[in-house]
Amino acid sequence: MTNVVTYTLQGTIGVIKINNPPVNALAQVVRQGILDAVTAAQKDASEAIVIACEGRTFIAGADITEFGKPPKAPGLPEVLSAIENSTKPVIAAIHGTALGGGFEVSLACHYRCAIASAQVGLPEVKLGLLPGAGGTQRVPRVAGVKAALEMITSGNPVDAISAKKMGLIDEVIAGSDLLACALAYAGDLVESGAPLKRIRDITIDPASVEPGFFDKARKDQAKRARGQIAQDRIVSCIEAALALPMDKGLERERELFKELVTSPESAAMRHIFFAERQAAKIKDLPADTPTRSIKKVAIIGVGTMGGGIAMCFANVDIPVVMVEVNSEALNRGLGIINKNYSITVQKGKLPAEQMQKRLDLITGTTDYGAIGDVDLVIEAVFENLELKKEIFARLDKACKPGAILATNTSYQDVDAIAAATGRPQDIVGIHFFSPANVMTLLEVVRGAKTANDVLATTMLIGKKIGKVCALSRVCYGFIGNRMLGGYGREAQMLLLDGCTPEQVDSALEKFGMAMGPLAMGDLAGLDVGYKARQARTDLPDDPKLFRMGTVLVEMGRHGQKTGAGFYKYDPATRARMSDPEVESLIKAEAKNLGIEQRRISEQEIIERCLYPLINEGARILEEGIAQRSSDIDVVYVYGYAFPTAKGGPMHYADHVGLKNVYDKINEFRGRYGEQYWKPSALLEKLAAQGKTFAEWESD
Ligand code: 3HC
Ligand code: NAI
Repeated sequence: MTNVVTYTLQGTIGVIKINNPPVNALAQVVRQGILDAVTAAQKDASEAIVIACEGRTFIAGADITEFGKPPKAPGLPEVLSAIENSTKPVIAAIHGTALGGGFEVSLACHYRCAIASAQVGLPEVKLGLLPGAGGTQRVPRVAGVKAALEMITSGNPVDAISAKKMGLIDEVIAGSDLLACALAYAGDLVESGAPLKRIRDITIDPASVEPGFFDKARKDQAKRARGQIAQDRIVSCIEAALALPMDKGLERERELFKELVTSPESAAMRHIFFAERQAAKIKDLPADTPTRSIKKVAIIGVGTMGGGIAMCFANVDIPVVMVEVNSEALNRGLGIINKNYSITVQKGKLPAEQMQKRLDLITGTTDYGAIGDVDLVIEAVFENLELKKEIFARLDKACKPGAILATNTSYQDVDAIAAATGRPQDIVGIHFFSPANVMTLLEVVRGAKTANDVLATTMLIGKKIGKVCALSRVCYGFIGNRMLGGYGREAQMLLLDGCTPEQVDSALEKFGMAMGPLAMGDLAGLDVGYKARQARTDLPDDPKLFRMGTVLVEMGRHGQKTGAGFYKYDPATRARMSDPEVESLIKAEAKNLGIEQRRISEQEIIERCLYPLINEGARILEEGIAQRSSDIDVVYVYGYAFPTAKGGPMHYADHVGLKNVYDKINEFRGRYGEQYWKPSALLEKLAAQGKTFAEWESD
C-alpha cells in the first residue's frame, strides 16, 4: 500500500485515510492506495469502511496534471467499482470540498456524511470536461434529471445542507470531529443492518422530464456557453442516464469524456486553471516575504472606479474612507454605491441587513487630514498625470509611515507618480477593471522602487477581495491596455476596408469574445479613446487611423451614453441595432481616403484583430513587462473577457502555431504597411525555432 493512503482498523471499522496535499487530488498513487485498501478490507474483520481525508479538504478531484498524458492504471472507474461492489458498507466522510472525481468517489460509496461547512460539486465543465467517473449517471439517479443538469452544466458546488435536501448527502454531522462522528455513524449503520445502498440500482422515472426536454436543454446550453462543446456532451450523458442501463450509460460517459479530455477547449481551460494560480507567484519574491497589515483603506475619488473599488473592500469587512473634492461629488458617489447594493438586494443576491452592514463600513470626507490612520490608499481620480502627482504629494504628507499608496491609473507612469513622494518604495499600481466590484482581474503594477513587502501585501489583499492578480512592470497601458491598441485599431481599419460594424463584432463574438471591439467601444464611450489619442504625440500621422471613431465622436455619437456610436441603441432596452447611417458614413470615408472596399472573411477579421494583440504580447514578454506568457493570458481572460475556452491570446497563438501567426503578420505587413505590422523579435525567433511561448519560458 502507498503511504499517501493508509488503511487501519479502528475497532470494527476500517478507515481509509488519504493524505495527498494540497487538495488530495486523485493521482495514480491515491487511486492505487484506495483500491488496495478496499480490497484488503474485504478480507479483514471490519464491518464497515470509512473513507476520509487529512488536510484542508476531502478529495478535490482527479489530478488535473495527469490529463493529456498516457493513462496510468488503475483508472478511477475501476476504483469506484471496487468501492461500490464492496460487501461491507463504505461511508465517505466529507470536509472541505468534494469536487469532481472526489465527489464521484463519494457517490460510489453506500453512504455519505459531511460536516455542515463542506461543499460538493462537479466542476469539470469549468475545465471543458464532464464528470468521467459516473457523476453524470449517479447524480440524476439521486437528485433527479433537472437538478443534475443544473449542477453539472454550471459546475457550481452546493453546500452540505442543500446537498442533503437533494439526496446527495445522507447525514450532516453536527460535531466538529468528523472522523469520530463518521465512525459513530458507520457503527449505527452496521448495528441497524442498513442495506448496501448502491446508486446504480436506482431507476429514473422517465416521466420526470417532459418530451423535448433534452432538445431544449441543448439549445439553452448552446446559448449559455457560446462555442463550447462540454455542455452539449453533458446533456447527452444525462440523456443516456435516463435512456440506458447503468453500464451502458457509464460507457457513453467514458466515450464523451475521452473526446473532451483531448479537445483543444479543455487544454485551454486547464491552461487557464494553472495560469491563474501561477500568476499569483512573483518570480523573484520569496514565498515567505513579510506582508503589511491592511485594516483600513482610503479611496481618493468616488467616480466610476472609486465606488466599485470601495465595494470590494466593504464586501470583505474592511472599512473604507472615501475622499472627494467636495460634498456634492462625495454624495453623488456614495449614492451610486447605495444604488448598486440596492440592485443586488432586489435581485435577491444580498440580504438587506448585509447591505446596511457594508454601507456602514463606507464613510466619506473631503479632508485629507482624515486619512492619517489608513493602511492602504487607492487613488482613482481623473486620468491626468499632473493631478495624480499632486495628489500623491498630498498623500505623502497626510498618510502614516508604512501606508501603501496605490494608483488605479490605466496608463500613467507609476514611477513618475512615486517620484512625487518621499517614499517611492510604498507606491504600487493596483489597476482594477470596470465595473470594479464585478470584474475579476487586478493588474498589480510594480514600480522600479516598489518594496517587496508592498508587492506581497498587494497580491494578498487582491486575493482577499476575490480578485485574480497578475503582475506588470511599468509601461504605457501596462499589459492589458497596451495590447489593446492594435486590436481596436484593426477593428476600425476593417470598416474602411469593407466590413460593417456587425460583421467585425459578430466574427469576434463567434470566436468567443463576450462583446466585439466596436460594441465594446460604444459601451466604454468612444470619447474616451478620442481624448486619449488627442493627448498622444507618438501616434503615426495616418488619416486612416481610428478614422471612424473620430468621425463618430465629432458627430456627437459617443456610444451607448448618447444612444448612438458604431450602432444605435434602443432607448428603453439598450439593445444594439445596426445603423444604415453609419454604414453609409463608412463607405463615404473609405471613398474619401481612396480605399477600395472588398468582402472580408471572418478568418481575416479574427487574424487582423487578434494577431496585433499577440505580437504586442510577445514584445511585452521580451521586455520583461510580464513575468510569463500565461500571465498575459490571465489578464485577457479575466480583464477583457477573452474566451477561457481559447486559453487567452498567447495560448491561442501557441495552438495556432507561432510560425503561422508570424507568416500571417508578414503577409499583412506587405499588404497594410510596416508601421502596424512588424513582427516582434521574440515571435520571429520562436517561429524560426518551431517553439511555443510556453516552451520559451521553460527553456
Ligand atoms: N489537480 C491537480 N492540482 C490541483 C488540483 C487538481 N484537481 N486542484 C488544485 N490543485 C493545485 C493547484 O494548482 C494549486 O497548486 P499550487 O499551490 O502549486 O499553485 C494547489 O493545488 C492549491 O489549489 P488552490 O490554490 O486552488 O487552493 P484553494 O484552497 O484556493 O482551492 C480547490 C481549493 C477549491 C480544491 C481548488 O483548487 C479547485 O477548485 N480545484 C479544482 C477542482 C476540480 O476542478 N476538480 C475536478 C477535476 S477534473 C475531474 O475530477 C475529472 C473526473 O470527473 C474524472
Ligand atoms: P471618474 O471621472 O468617474 O471619477 C473620478 C473622480 O475623482 C471624480 O468623482 C472626481 O470628483 C474625483 N476627483 C478628482 N480630483 C480629485 C481630488 N483631487 N481629490 C479627490 N477626488 C478627486 O473616473 P474613473 O473612470 O473612475 O477613473 C478613475 C481612474 O481609474 C483613472 O485613472 C482611470 O484611468 C482609471 N480607470 C478607469 C477605468 C474605467 O473603465 N473607467 C478602468 C480602470 C482604471
